[in-house]
Order: sequence, then structure tokens, then C-alpha cells
Amino acid sequence: MCGIIGYVGEREMAPLLINGLKKLEYRGYDSYGFCIKDGDRFHVLKKKGRISEDESPLKKIQGNFGIAHTRWATHGKPTEINSHPHFDCKKEISIVHNGIIENAEQLRKMLEKEKHVFVSETDSEVIAHLIEKFYVNSLEMAVKKAISLLDGSFALAIICKNEDCILAVKRGSPLVLGVGKNENFIASDVVPIIEYTKKIIYLKDEEIAKITKEGIEIKNSKGKIIDKKIAEIKWNIKQAEKGKFKHFMIKEIFEQPEVIKNVLRGRIKDNKIKLTLDINFKKINRIILTACGTSWHSCLIAKTLIEKYAQIPVEVDYASEFRYRNPLVSKNDLLIAVSQSGETADTLAAIREGKKKGAKTLGIINVVGSTISREVDSGIYLYSGPETGVASTKAFTSQIMALFLFALYARQEKKCKIDPRLINEIKKLPEKIEESLGEVKKIKSIAKKFVDSSNFLYFGRGINYPVALEGALKLKEISYIHAEGYPAAEMKHGPIALIDGNMPSVFIATHSKTFSKLISNIEEVKARGGKIISIVNKEDKIARKCSDFAINVPRTIEDLSAIVNVIPLQLLSYFIADMRGLDVDKPRNLAKSVTVE
Ligand code: AGP
Ligand code: GLU
Repeated sequence: MCGIIGYVGEREMAPLLINGLKKLEYRGYDSYGFCIKDGDRFHVLKKKGRISEDESPLKKIQGNFGIAHTRWATHGKPTEINSHPHFDCKKEISIVHNGIIENAEQLRKMLEKEKHVFVSETDSEVIAHLIEKFYVNSLEMAVKKAISLLDGSFALAIICKNEDCILAVKRGSPLVLGVGKNENFIASDVVPIIEYTKKIIYLKDEEIAKITKEGIEIKNSKGKIIDKKIAEIKWNIKQAEKGKFKHFMIKEIFEQPEVIKNVLRGRIKDNKIKLTLDINFKKINRIILTACGTSWHSCLIAKTLIEKYAQIPVEVDYASEFRYRNPLVSKNDLLIAVSQSGETADTLAAIREGKKKGAKTLGIINVVGSTISREVDSGIYLYSGPETGVASTKAFTSQIMALFLFALYARQEKKCKIDPRLINEIKKLPEKIEESLGEVKKIKSIAKKFVDSSNFLYFGRGINYPVALEGALKLKEISYIHAEGYPAAEMKHGPIALIDGNMPSVFIATHSKTFSKLISNIEEVKARGGKIISIVNKEDKIARKCSDFAINVPRTIEDLSAIVNVIPLQLLSYFIADMRGLDVDKPRNLAKSVTVE
């Protein structure tokens, strides 16, 4: 949800900011803009649309301080005027904002009475005017007073004509600082600055950072200068680039064998699960899994795994709903947040709610150092590298794997044996995913046949029901085809009414204890003239026979099958969306990190 970058130093400012925004574009792509301070002048650029599609040459702009923004609109249409940066009346203060100001309307009315004139429809503009209202001779003091009036979430980078620094402050939205030599950076995440520095400071809520060429000074909410730890980023810029692939999404789909190896690395030894978690399982009566979107689908799969292997009751909650229903949470609950980005506002709020009520918290997170990873009591990192495609793929499979390890670890902590055959099967997963990827040509040809469909149904049972949900979500996110996932047996309770010759149904029909029941469901669709695409095991003859199209995946145990079976569904969505000529990596209306409620 929006990307911010700020720079102070001697590099050429405009190309640095623009390149940084291009790397942040997966966070939002409604409009973009920058403000560069050159002595006491501001050079401003604001444009509607995608930065990656803008070929116009960059003017040479001198300057020492710059802030820039790529927008995911919450208040006001994606127009040039609503693009960030926003300014005060005198155009002396310039701000870029990520988040939502919930009391913007009241503040705007108050400021209008005081003769402030607004030019945009955004909530963000009030921030610039509030800083103006309070500015006497210190930007820092004015910012402190202004943010004390704000309700909602924000990450802000601010410059002012009278002062030689960038100020950064946040509440609820992410912001990192990059430490360089004679140069320093601000950004929403590390992706746009990793090529310049790997030294990162994670700003906390209410801390204010003053960034100059010479250094970064950070004060806590009480105004005391604090010493912050500098973290070292391990991954490199190559991992954040597309390489030979047409899109990030397809690159990330093909990374999955490696990604599974990464999440397992060092975590299984001599049939033992090695995790360092600060959890006393004797005291855990219940586990609550919470997440959004694709990560929520991983939670549904994990419920089955944790209940089976750890014998602990599990509930799964949408993070966005969790705190608003006043959930019953106690100190004997373990609340697990699953999030690729570690920044999803709803998931963060759910974790805070659980903590407040005394629960232990655990994060299953990909982005190292992200807000959720810093707020939970313990965590399991996915180590999948940056996921840039807005549609999550490799994070999904690695989340399932991490949650599987967690289930086995809990089992082990409860002094129950882990079957070595299970461990063996886990170790074979990377090559089985590789085999699933081998169906790419066939999947492409199936995609061609269905590229003009307007609806799709996805059916699975047991652990593969969430896979059906995920298949449907992937398709609607990037191809804009309406798709729904159902437990196959639910079909007869409603969705079967939708079946006709124009309705493709995707069945996850691999080996399972409900296989024969699922075959009956396929027959029921077939009897009504529906088109059937099935995900089947290589050696299967039965599901294949009653399907119009069959995609092979290697057989694994049912508990691990979600990881193998989702691969063809990711590929099918990818090819359909690409054949429809859509922007697969940046689907309309979506953003990679949803840092607003
Ligand atoms: C997945 O394809 C989505 N774009 C989206 O549902 C995503 O999974 C969700 O927003 C949660 O994100 P997170 O894992 O970063 O918390
Ligand atoms: N709420 C602000 C707007 O609509 C900021 C949105 C963002 O985070 O991109 O402009």
C-alpha cells in the first residue's frame, strides 16, 4: 500500500528516486510523484498512472534532499492533483504519506476555518497543513504537534524549505532507514535501497528520525535521543529482479523448489525438528491462526496439520474480523500470525489484540525485520527472498511448509514420535514440485482453451479445499475472471446450479481418503455438461477418465499434497491472465502490502 522513498546525499536525485519508485511500484501504482529540495527551492513532479509505463526523459535536477511516493489511493481518485507529495499553503512544507488519516474530515474543516486552502481530495494533505499550523522555527516540534492530532495510520517523510534534513515518523505503517556513507535513505521497505546499502534501521511507531547526509538522529516519543540497532540485510539485488522471466510471478512460481529447501534448511536433523521457539506447549490449550488472503488459506491447511500432529485444538480467524468481535482469548492461547509481508495492518492489529488479552504470539513471516516479526514473542521466518508479484505464490507454499514444521515441532515437544517416513516425504518435496512444474506446456495449452471464460469453479476436499480457495483467488486476482472455491461435497448444496457447458470446474483430484467421493462429484458435474479440468496423480486412471483435461502431479502423502497440487493452479492463472494481456504482477486495484485497514 503505497511506497515511499527519501534520499539525502550526492547522487543524482531524480533518477535515484524514480528507480526507487519503480522497485516499490508493487506496493501501489495509481500515481507517483517527488519533491526535491535544491537550496530553498522545491522541484516537484506529480503524475497519474504507472511509473513503469512513463518513458518521458527525466530532467536534470540538482538537489540534496528528495522524497518520493507511489500511491495506492484510499481518499480521492488517482489524479495528478491527488498524487503525493502534498504541500502546505505556502508550498514550504512537502510530505509523502502512506496510510489513512481517519479524522481527516474533521481536521480539514478545522483548518479551513483557519483559512487553510486545500487543493486535493486526499486525507494526506491535512498533514502538511497541520505542520504549517504548528511551524514556528522547528520542523520537528511542528511534526510532533501535528501527529498528536492524527487518528489512523501513517508513515511520513517530510521536508521543509527552511531546514536541511528529512524527517521521518510512523504509526502503524512501515518505514525503514538505510545507512550509507555520506548519504542516507528512507523507504517503505528495503527493496529500493538494497543496491546502495545493506545497513538498515527499522523505525518504531512514534519515533522521529532526522536524516541528513552526515547521519541519522532518532528520538523516542519522549524526545530522548536513542541508539538504534543497525540490521544487516542478507539478500541481494538479483533476488529482487525478474531475470530471464517475463514476470515476477512466473519467476516466483519456478523458485518454489528452492524456496521449500530454504524453509527446511537446518530445521530437520536426525528426525528431529529444530526450531527455537519460546513456547511451553504444556500451557497451550488452544491455537488461533490469523491472517488475510492467501496467508489465511495457509492457516486453513495448518489447522488440519496442527490438530492431527500436535493434538491441540485450532481456530482460524480472518485477521480483519478478529479484534472486532471481542474474541475470547486467554494466556493459555497461542496466537499465530501468518504474513508474507509482516506488514498487513489487519494481521498486525490481530496480534496486538491477542497480546493485550494475554496470549502468547508467534509469527510465520517472510520479510525479515518487518513490523509483525518484531512484535511477536517468537517467529519462524520463511527465508523465501523477496516476493514481488502481487499474487502470492512462493510465500503460500513456504508458509504451509513452515506451519507443517511447527505442527511437528509441537508434537515433538509433547514427547510424541515423528514417523521417519513423513520426514522422508518432506525431503522429497522440492523434486516433486519440480515435477509439477514440468507440466507447464500442457497447462499453457489448457489456459488457451479457457482464456475467454467468464467464470470458474474450483473444488477440493480436506486439505485440498483451501487449495481450491487459493486457486480461485489466484485466478480472480490476476485475470479478473470470477472464480469461487468450494469443498467438493458442498457442490450439491448450491453451486451445482451454476454448472452448464460454459462453466469450467477445476477439481483437485489427487489421492486422498475421500478420493472416491470426489470422483462422484466430478461425475455429477459431467452429467450436467460442465467442463472438467482435474489435478491428478501421474498413475491415476479414474479421475483422468472422467475429466476433459488432466494435469499430472506426483503423488505424495495427503498431508503434504497441498504444496504439490497448488503449483498447476498458480500456472493456470498465470497463463490465462498473461494471454488476456493483463499486467500479471500488478493487477488492478491491488497492492502487495495492505498496510491500511
Ligand atoms: C495474495 O495473492 C494476495 N495478494 C493477498 O491476499 C495477500 O495474501 C494478503 O494481503 C496477505 O498478505 P500478507 O501475507 O503479506 O499478510
Ligand atoms: N491515504 C493516502 C491517499 O489516498 C495515502 C495512500 C497510500 O498509502 O498510498 O493518498
